[in-house]
Amino acid sequence: MSQKDIIILGIESSCDDTSAAIIKNETILSNVIANQKIHELYGGVVPELASRAHQQNIVPVVDAAIRRAGIDKKEIDAIAFTRGPGLLGSLVVGTSFSKAFALALNIPLLDVNHMHGHVLAHFIDEEGKSKPKFPFLCLTVSGGHTQIVLVKDYLDMKVIGSTIDDAAGEAFDKSAKMLGFPYPGGPLIDKHAQVGNPNAFEFVRPNMKNYDFSFSGLKTSILYFLRGKEAENSNFISQNLNDLCASIQETICQILIKKLIKASKELNIKEIAIAGGVSANSGLRNELKATGEKLGWNVYIPKFDYCTDNAAMIAITGFHQYKKGIFADQTIAAAARLKM
Ligand code: KG4
Ligand code: ZN
Repeated sequence: MSQKDIIILGIESSCDDTSAAIIKNETILSNVIANQKIHELYGGVVPELASRAHQQNIVPVVDAAIRRAGIDKKEIDAIAFTRGPGLLGSLVVGTSFSKAFALALNIPLLDVNHMHGHVLAHFIDEEGKSKPKFPFLCLTVSGGHTQIVLVKDYLDMKVIGSTIDDAAGEAFDKSAKMLGFPYPGGPLIDKHAQVGNPNAFEFVRPNMKNYDFSFSGLKTSILYFLRGKEAENSNFISQNLNDLCASIQETICQILIKKLIKASKELNIKEIAIAGGVSANSGLRNELKATGEKLGWNVYIPKFDYCTDNAAMIAITGFHQYKKGIFADQTIAAAARLKM
C-alpha cells in the first residue's frame, strides 16, 4: 500500500521577507515571497517596520500560496513556521498567525529553526539535482549568521564553527554601504565584482582558531583604506568601484572557503554544501565549485530561490519533523535567539 501524501504549509517571517509555501512530501507546489522594500530607505532592516509589513502581508501571502498550489486549505496536514532565530516582532507575526490557523483547521503545528531550514533546503526535490549524503558539511552564510554545520541526519546537526562578530552577509552589506550602495548591498557587490579585478586591493584576513570566523577586522580595514584613498582623491571609490567590489568579495569568499577546506580535511568529509542568502553570491559559488573539483568534493549549491529567506525551506524541515512526530503545541512562543 502506498503511503499517504503529506501536505504542509510553511511560513517564514524571521526578518524582512514574508513567505508561505506548500509542500507535498518533498515537492514544492508553491513558494510565495513578499519582500519589504521599505528598509532600503534606512540602510538596514528596521524591526518595527518589518513586523508591521509582515502583519499586512501574511494573509495575502498565505492565501496566494494555497491558491498557486492548487489545493484546498482542508487538505493541509500541518503548519510549519519559523520559531527563531530572528527579529522577535517579525517572528511573532508568523508564529501567532500559524497558531491561529492551525487551531482553526484543527491540524498540528511544527516549530522550525530558521537555520535548520537553510540547511534542509537541499532536500527539496528538484529535477536533475542530487541531494547531499550524510554526513555532510554545510556552510550557512546569511545576513545574521555564518556557521559551519556538521549534518549527520535530517534532524541531527551540530554547529562546529561560527562567527564571533559580524556575519558574512553583514560584511557584504556594511562594505556595500561604505561604497555608497543601498541596503542590502551584497547582491550589488556581486554584480560589480563580475567585471572587476579580485586582486586589485588587499584587505586583512583574520587568523581565527578552529572553525570560527571574524569579519569585524575586515570591515575596519576597508573603512580606513577607503578614508585614506578618498582623502587623496575624492573620486577614488567611483573610479575603482568594480575592482573594490571584486577585491572585497574575493577576501570574504577566501575567508569562508579556507575554513571549509580545514573542516573537510580534519573531519574527512567530502560532501560539501552551502546555504543562506550569501550562497547566492556568484564568486562564492564559482570558487566553491573550483575548490571542489581540485579536492574531490561533491559540492551542493541551492537554487537561487532557496538561498535567501523563503518558506519552502521551512516546509521541507516541517515535513521531516512531521515524519518523526515532533510537533509543537499551542503554548509555543517565538524565540529570537533560538539555538540549533
Ligand atoms: O538568508 P538571508 O536571505 O536572510 C538572513 O537570514 O539573513 O540572507 C540575506 C543576506 C544579506 O546580507 C544579503 O546582502 C546577502 O544575503 N546576499 C548576498 C547575495 N544575495 C544575498 N551577498 C552577496 N552576494 C549575493 N549575490
Ligand atoms: Zn536566513
